[in-house]
Amino acid sequence: MTEIYLDNSATTRPFDEVIALCSHIQRDNYGNPSSLHARGIAAEKLLNEARRNIASLLQCREDELYFTSGGTEANNLALKGIAYRRQRRDGHIITTQIEHPSVLNCCRRLEEEGFAVSFLPVDRQGYLDLDELSRAIRDETILVSTSHVNNEIGTIQPVEKIGAIIKELNPRTLYHIDGVQSFAKIPASLQHWQADLYSCSAHKIHGPKGAGALWVRKGVSLQPLFQGGEQEKTLRPGTENTAAIAGFGLAARINETLLEDNAAQLYRLKEKLYRGLQQAGVEVYLNGPPLEQAAPHILNLSFPGIKSEVLLHFLEENEIYVSAGSACHSRRPEPSHVLAAIGLDESRLFSALRFSFSSFNNLTEINRVIERIVPAIRELKTYQGR
Ligand SMILES: Cc1ncc(COP(=O)(O)O)c(C=O)c1O
Repeated sequence: MTEIYLDNSATTRPFDEVIALCSHIQRDNYGNPSSLHARGIAAEKLLNEARRNIASLLQCREDELYFTSGGTEANNLALKGIAYRRQRRDGHIITTQIEHPSVLNCCRRLEEEGFAVSFLPVDRQGYLDLDELSRAIRDETILVSTSHVNNEIGTIQPVEKIGAIIKELNPRTLYHIDGVQSFAKIPASLQHWQADLYSCSAHKIHGPKGAGALWVRKGVSLQPLFQGGEQEKTLRPGTENTAAIAGFGLAARINETLLEDNAAQLYRLKEKLYRGLQQAGVEVYLNGPPLEQAAPHILNLSFPGIKSEVLLHFLEENEIYVSAGSACHSRRPEPSHVLAAIGLDESRLFSALRFSFSSFNNLTEINRVIERIVPAIRELKTYQGR
């Protein structure tokens, strides 16, 4: 039996080409990009090429991209970098209750340090209420940070409308988009969205772990979080992880050629799984927006009467890998803050599983998942009902 990996929002299997490139670089192109000799220049070329590929996918300038160790660092750099730079104004930050912990916990830390933070609620599908946003923006608001795609339920925030509201109400307020779950899946239009900062991460797009990037619109000034050398124009000092960054660039390039087909294929997979379960008579609820409105690769379902972990481990025994909530929460018994924020009742809160897809998945796999889940649910319900 071969495994079926449906936890692609947690991380993805790297493309074979990416693995080959990263190991080739570790072995044969190990120079430090800051060195003046040929090895350094060869390594620097790798960074330049990766920057070019990522800029092409984001349709941004290459010199607006700063490499980081991943999405968490990019989010921290965006939020703290802006907050600390603008500290002298009594800064106010706005975010939502369903952000990734790398945004939420960063905001909580900033709050402890004296910044005012508004954690705005969302509706039952995970959308930010735009009127609430308008009411929250004030003169001292330095930053609004929202995800583009929510990592647990796939809600796609109306980033264009959010950007327009922010800039209309306070043109000095900056807009940061956490694009970790949308990068290379939904075309980016940073200018259109009136964004100032955008975070992305390599390992969510079949790249290696340990690389990410923060796009910073030209003219926006951030305070570095570390002090060191001149790398990344001193905004993110430290010898660059050339292998991972080059792998990130290659993954971005491969994704760019696949983008449209990918979205359609991912959507087919998630629709097949959801409808297949419904047609088999399973009691199943969709968490988040309707299928066609949500991100193509995320499907969050509740199976009332069955604990998430029980079904997760049953599937695991069948080499089917899914997630209960996000990877960051899945080892804790607490319910997901996202599912709680959209107001799910207990029976749905504790029976939710996230299935997340990639271009490595196919319909045969989905059919096999349905074949396994349907009898398992009947059995587990009978067992638990005793
Ligand atoms: C929306 C979102 N933001 C940020 C992150 C953090 O990214 P990384 O794992 O690269 O640190 C994740 C990872 O799950 C995510 O889903």
